[in-house]
Amino acid sequence: MTFKILTLNSISVRGLERLPRERYEVASEIGHPDALLLRSADVHSIEIPASVLAVARAGAGTNNIPVAKLSQRGVPVFNAPGANANAVKELVLSGLFLGARNICQAWEYVRGLAGDDHAIEEAVEKGKKKFVGYELPGRTLGVVGLGAIGVEVANAALGLRMKVLGYDPQITVQRAWQLSSGVEQALSLDDLFARSDMVTVHVPLNDATRHLVNEARLRLMRRGGVILNFARAQIVEEAAVLAGLAAGQLSAYVCDFPTRAAKDHPKVVALPHLGASTGEAEENCAIMVADTLRDFLENGNVRNSVNFPEAVLPRVGENRLGIANSNVPNMVGQISTCLAEARLNIADLLNKSRADLAYTIIDTDAPIGQDVLVRLRAIPGVLSARLV
Ligand SMILES: NC(=O)c1ccc[n+]([C@@H]2O[C@H](COP(=O)([O-])OP(=O)(O)OC[C@H]3O[C@@H](n4cnc5c(N)ncnc54)[C@H](O)[C@@H]3O)[C@@H](O)[C@H]2O)c1
Repeated sequence: MTFKILTLNSISVRGLERLPRERYEVASEIGHPDALLLRSADVHSIEIPASVLAVARAGAGTNNIPVAKLSQRGVPVFNAPGANANAVKELVLSGLFLGARNICQAWEYVRGLAGDDHAIEEAVEKGKKKFVGYELPGRTLGVVGLGAIGVEVANAALGLRMKVLGYDPQITVQRAWQLSSGVEQALSLDDLFARSDMVTVHVPLNDATRHLVNEARLRLMRRGGVILNFARAQIVEEAAVLAGLAAGQLSAYVCDFPTRAAKDHPKVVALPHLGASTGEAEENCAIMVADTLRDFLENGNVRNSVNFPEAVLPRVGENRLGIANSNVPNMVGQISTCLAEARLNIADLLNKSRADLAYTIIDTDAPIGQDVLVRLRAIPGVLSARLV
């Protein structure tokens, strides 16, 4: 069996190489595609063909994809979580140095120097006093959010001989395994701010995290603190940060989100949303999402989906079904009955649910006919069913 993949953006060659030519036809124009592969293309504005079994985004966010509509059709949406974590981590590490050593302000000063080399040399010796910084070993970095990026930042900061405090009440088992045992757990956000010289945020933006960095928490920090924001602009209450900088409570704000009020501020380093902007991050995203898409199309397994539950079942034979259904009682019962009526014995079964949606992988001892598939699709609540 071969699969047709419709690309809606150019995708890194390293990613496309994961879809071998013998089994995959990949093109930007193709009829009856089995999957859509894209980066930032707006899928809200296009008619998604009925043939589409999966939508894959070579990136993290999926705002450009009508996820709820695809869930109703029983179509998984895949993304590439954490594929850009190293890129963001490296920029955050740069941010620590930019904040501690006043590098941008010093560079700005040098660029403004006039006169000949002698005059410049004199000005350098006089001017450098203004940019005296500090070293990182022994300073405390508070890391809010220990997901893909936060864990990398925390571990790397230990490597710089900083003390590291972490806070994430919903840390996953996988991330907890990756986190160095040298990272100390903060008891609360207030505890983290009260004990940190520098705080970096790595949480998603939602109602609980909007203005997580605010006036009250900044007041808890040690004087001359640094805030780093490479997550989302609104996680930090910018007015409170600017007031903190004016009062000397903060010495620097390093972020990836320039605004009119902050971009020219002498103690703010605002970068143009560069966190994930590396060739490697783009490649990693494409490789990761191509691998997950391939495993879904060829084996029905689900990893890194934003709407489907994680569901991975090693194959015990050639005959496999992948069924998406509403998460309501007696779905597995009805599916099993349908197979029993067709005298099909179940060799292995995995059923997982997530919110309103459930996904079932079934291996049978004998081949499954198209007639069985038609009957399965007719069960109320079954959103999609296919032979894998
Ligand atoms: N600057 C950039 O270009 C760039 C690039 C990639 C990601 N990001 C941002 O970075 C954020 C983090 O990315 P990630 O890949 O590490 O995500 P992730 O989902 O792997 O990790 C987020 C972590 O935040 C934790 N969390 C959620 N709410 C929390 C709260 N109230 N307090 C403490 N912890 C909380 C979660 O438990 C999770 O472990 C993303 O949501 C995105 O907004 C920015």
